[in-house]
Amino acid sequence: MPLSSPWRADFPAIAALQRQGQTYLDNAATTQKPQALLDALNHYYANGAANVHRAQHLPGAHATQAFEDSRGKVASWLNANEAGQIVFTHGATSALNLLAYGLEHEFAAGDEIAISALEHHANLLPWQQLAQRRDLKLVVLPLAADGLIDLDAAARLIGPRTRLLAVSQLSNVLGAWQPLPQLLALAKANHALTVVDGAQGVVHGRHDVQALGCDFYVFSSHKLYGPEGLGVLYGRHAALSRLHHWQFGGEMVLTTDYHHAKFRPAPLGFEAGTPPISSVIGLGATLDYLQSLDHAAVDAHETGLHAQLLEGLQQRPGIRILGAPQLALVSFVVEGVHNADLAHLLTEQGVAVRAGHHCAMPLLKSLGLSGAIRVSLALYNDSDDLERFFSALDQALEMLQ
Ligand SMILES: Cc1ncc(COP(=O)(O)O)c(C=O)c1O
Repeated sequence: MPLSSPWRADFPAIAALQRQGQTYLDNAATTQKPQALLDALNHYYANGAANVHRAQHLPGAHATQAFEDSRGKVASWLNANEAGQIVFTHGATSALNLLAYGLEHEFAAGDEIAISALEHHANLLPWQQLAQRRDLKLVVLPLAADGLIDLDAAARLIGPRTRLLAVSQLSNVLGAWQPLPQLLALAKANHALTVVDGAQGVVHGRHDVQALGCDFYVFSSHKLYGPEGLGVLYGRHAALSRLHHWQFGGEMVLTTDYHHAKFRPAPLGFEAGTPPISSVIGLGATLDYLQSLDHAAVDAHETGLHAQLLEGLQQRPGIRILGAPQLALVSFVVEGVHNADLAHLLTEQGVAVRAGHHCAMPLLKSLGLSGAIRVSLALYNDSDDLERFFSALDQALEMLQ
C-alpha cells in the first residue's frame, strides 16, 4: 500500500527540491527543516540578535531567555533530570572530542577504551587519538552476522581494565539498534564510563537518557531536523563533574587574573565563546514542532516506508544488503557494479543518496568493501520518493549490468 506523509508539507524544502527534480533520500547525512524552524530563525534575526549570558540590555535578556528555554526543551526531549545537564557544542563530533579531551586525565597507560567495529569516525578517532596520547589500548568490539555488536565477545572484552565504553545507538551504515542495555550493564559492572553516540538514534523514536542509564549521550541538531553547527552533550551530574575544561575563553570562566583562572561547572564551563545562538533557539522550535506530532503515527510511517525500501531492494537480483537493517536506512552494493558508477547514474536522474564509506572506513573494509550506496529516510519521505528511487535504480542497473 502506498504511504504518504502527513508531515511533508511542513518541510518547504521538499517541494522546492521536487521542483528542482530532486528526490532527497540522504537523511542520515542531514535532514530538511520544518517551517517552524525557519519561522524561529526569522523571528530571532528580524527582532534583534544579541549575545547571551553577558549583556544587561533587553535584546540580550530576550536572547538569553530563548537560549536557556531551548536548553530546557532539549532536556525534556531526552528526559534528562534538568537543563543543567545539557551542554551545547558545535556538533556530535565536537561533543565527542570534548569528552576525549575532558576525560583524558582519567586514564593511565595500559587502561582500555572499548568501542565497536561499526563506529562512525566521530566516535572512533577521538578515542583512537586519546589512546595514542596516553598509551591506552583501544579495544574494538566485533559484530555478529546480523550487524549487532556481539555480546558474547563484548562480555569477554569488557573487563576491569576497561575505563570507558563508547558505542553508537543506531548504526549510520547498518541501520540496526545496538544492544545498549546489555553493553552498558557490562561497562557499569566494571566501573567504566559510558558514552552513547545518539547521532542517528535520536532521530527515530523518543529516547530516555535516565532509563538508558548512560553517563553521556551526544547528538547533532542538524540530523534531528534542526540547524547545523549545534551539538548536544547530555551528562549525568556525577559524570559531568569528572570532566576537565578543554576549551578556554569568554563566559566559561568564573574569575581570572593574568596567571590563574577558576572555571564554571557544566554547562557554561564547557561552552567557551559565543555559542551558536540562533541554532540553539532554532533547535528549541524544532523540538516544539516534533513534540506536537503523533509519535506513534511517525513510528508507523517510518517502519512502513523502511519495509518498502527493504523489500524493493531484496526483490532485485544481484543486490547485497549490508547487515540486517531494522529502520531508517539501508546500505547496499550490487554485484559487479562499482558504487560510484551507480551513485553517478542515480545523481543524474535526480535521486540524492549517499555513496562511499559513510565515515566508517574500518567497517566497510571489514566487510570487504570500499564503499556502498545508502538510502536513508525521514518522516517526510513517502512511497512516491521510493518509486522514483527504484525506477532510477532499475534504469541505472540496466546500463551498468
Ligand atoms: C553515528 C554518527 N555519529 C556521529 C556523527 C557525526 O555527526 P556530525 O558530523 O554532525 O558531528 C554522525 C554523522 O553522520 C553519525 O552518523
